[in-house]
Amino acid sequence: MIVSGSTSQGLAAALARELEEPLAAVEYDRFPDGELLASVPDPDPETDRAVVVASTVSSDAHVELLQLQDAVREAGVGEVVTVLPYMGYGRQDKAFEAGQPISARAVARAISTGADRVLTVTPHEEAICEFFEPTATSVDAGGRLAEPLPDDLADPVFLSPDAGAIELAETVRDAYGTGETDYFEKIRHSGTEVEITPSDVDVTSRDVVVTDDIIATGSTMSEAVGVLQDRNVGRVFVTCVHPLLVSNAVTKLSRAGVESIYGTDTIERAVSAVSVAPAIAARL
Ligand code: R5P
Repeated sequence: MIVSGSTSQGLAAALARELEEPLAAVEYDRFPDGELLASVPDPDPETDRAVVVASTVSSDAHVELLQLQDAVREAGVGEVVTVLPYMGYGRQDKAFEAGQPISARAVARAISTGADRVLTVTPHEEAICEFFEPTATSVDAGGRLAEPLPDDLADPVFLSPDAGAIELAETVRDAYGTGETDYFEKIRHSGTEVEITPSDVDVTSRDVVVTDDIIATGSTMSEAVGVLQDRNVGRVFVTCVHPLLVSNAVTKLSRAGVESIYGTDTIERAVSAVSVAPAIAARL
């Protein structure tokens, strides 16, 4: 059976259809003091496997996931598989200053206690899979990002906002079938301030697709798009696996001159044009 966290209900349903497995009933309640109570009221005790699908986009979503894992274990299912379409705290993958926790490791350890197996989609760093016990399986969704792009991109350039995402940009270019790739240099000054240094590629009158794993505040992408607009670019599309899009990110990107924003349903937003359900199903 497929069990959905409240943040991943559409994706869980798509996965249930893809795998032809039942979608379990779930309830998400909250006590007057604010504590959560997520439950699976009618679990099938004969079920061999429960696949819990939950993007941990908030601290509440983390607690909810732990509760759902525990509920299906309590019901006696044989195997608990946890799918983290988006793993929250994944970007805190090291102690950046003395005294800081490695938050990705802390949450991975907590999740591992309730799961026999964990899958996560395009993690920020592949190494965070090793924080899980046993090591999590990483599902690559990058290739699907080409699907919603227009067929008529003019002499396209696929750019990543930093060197870390160039492989993703190359994957999207390969899936699209044609185009040049390059990356910007990025210096992050704070959570919302980034500095982008242009790449050398000539973008004059060419359509550009800027690809990153996550768009959170939109600071990285809007800076990158601003640099392109100064250089007489054609149309600019932005695409990402995880459209977190917090606060005013969509407005920032629109004001920067972005033609369209595309993401996947690892985080269910209006821009989630592509489903990662087939890619996950193939690994289950
Ligand atoms: C960081 O290295 C990631 O790949 C993204 O570039 C980052 O998370 C985007 O964050 P924001 O949208 O807040 O600039």
